[in-house]
Amino acid sequence: MKRLAVLTSGGDAPGMNACIRAVVRGAAYHGIEVMGIRRGYSGLILGDGIPLTSSTVSNIIQRGGTILKSARSPEFRTVEGRQKAHDYLTSLAVDGLIVIGGNGTFKGALQFVDEFSFPVIGVPGTIDNDLFGTDYTIGYDTAVNTAVEAIDKIRDTADSHERIFLIEVMGRDSGYIAVQSGIAGGAERVLIPETGVSATELIAGLQQGRNGSQSSVILVLAEGEGRGTATVVAEQIKKQSGTEFDLRVTTLGHIQRGGAPSAGDRILASRLGLGAVEGLLKGKKNVMVGVVNNLLVYSDLYEAVSRSKPISEELLRLVTILNGSESHPH
Ligand code: F6P
Repeated sequence: MKRLAVLTSGGDAPGMNACIRAVVRGAAYHGIEVMGIRRGYSGLILGDGIPLTSSTVSNIIQRGGTILKSARSPEFRTVEGRQKAHDYLTSLAVDGLIVIGGNGTFKGALQFVDEFSFPVIGVPGTIDNDLFGTDYTIGYDTAVNTAVEAIDKIRDTADSHERIFLIEVMGRDSGYIAVQSGIAGGAERVLIPETGVSATELIAGLQQGRNGSQSSVILVLAEGEGRGTATVVAEQIKKQSGTEFDLRVTTLGHIQRGGAPSAGDRILASRLGLGAVEGLLKGKKNVMVGVVNNLLVYSDLYEAVSRSKPISEELLRLVTILNGSESHPH
């Protein structure tokens, strides 16, 4: 292996730069050159590659976003687009491709691999933490910390005014960000796609909170929960309960995707970046590199996107017990 290419694709995630750095420096250690492809698969199609050296990746480990830019490429979903991408990689004399991204990125990679048998390794980079085959994805820890910081601030004002807040967090179809930020932010309830709660139950829970000692209530809503946006859910609650709740809505949005990566994300990204390079060197292809039980592992790329990663029952139980809404049936 003489040369490899790396790209970042889909929603950016804090820690992607740390991963690019690890790929480039890991490759340099093994005497391999690296081409950075700008704007994900679009850059492969347009031939937008730049050589990356150890010095071009200095001073980026602490930076959010991605120096390679990211994009979601509709053209890569076409056979013609993927053919152009393959032609470009061949013209670069690249022996392997490392794609840093999430679900959509890996689905694109799988099609590419099927058609051209090109060696590809996926690195899980998404704040959603929704990929099977790794306990954590790059960016998730930072996103959770950002959400917790926001929840803490909202708690201050919620408490002063004795209000209920519905806080919407990202996560696409997964409730990971909601559960962990909910636990760390001391939320009274977490609404996630993985477990359903009816509007009636929800209102009963809010009434219980009001009648109890709580002076504020925070509900964390995962964007993919299924009922709609936080504004829609708040309207439903208001409609069904009359006007008894002083309810406010905050949607955290893209702040969850930005900012300096946490130490945890920098370390994870560094391990996975080097793991991707060394995986390719060992002849691994069409796999995702991940960390499971703190060990570096390679798993099937197809499984990474097709199998679901359930949220642990222990965490869900923790939310219920610590919000004080239920007691042990003595
Ligand atoms: O996959 C990451 C993510 O931030 C999701 O949590 C969210 O649903 C989506 O991307 C938002 O995408 P965009 O930035 O294209 O609006």
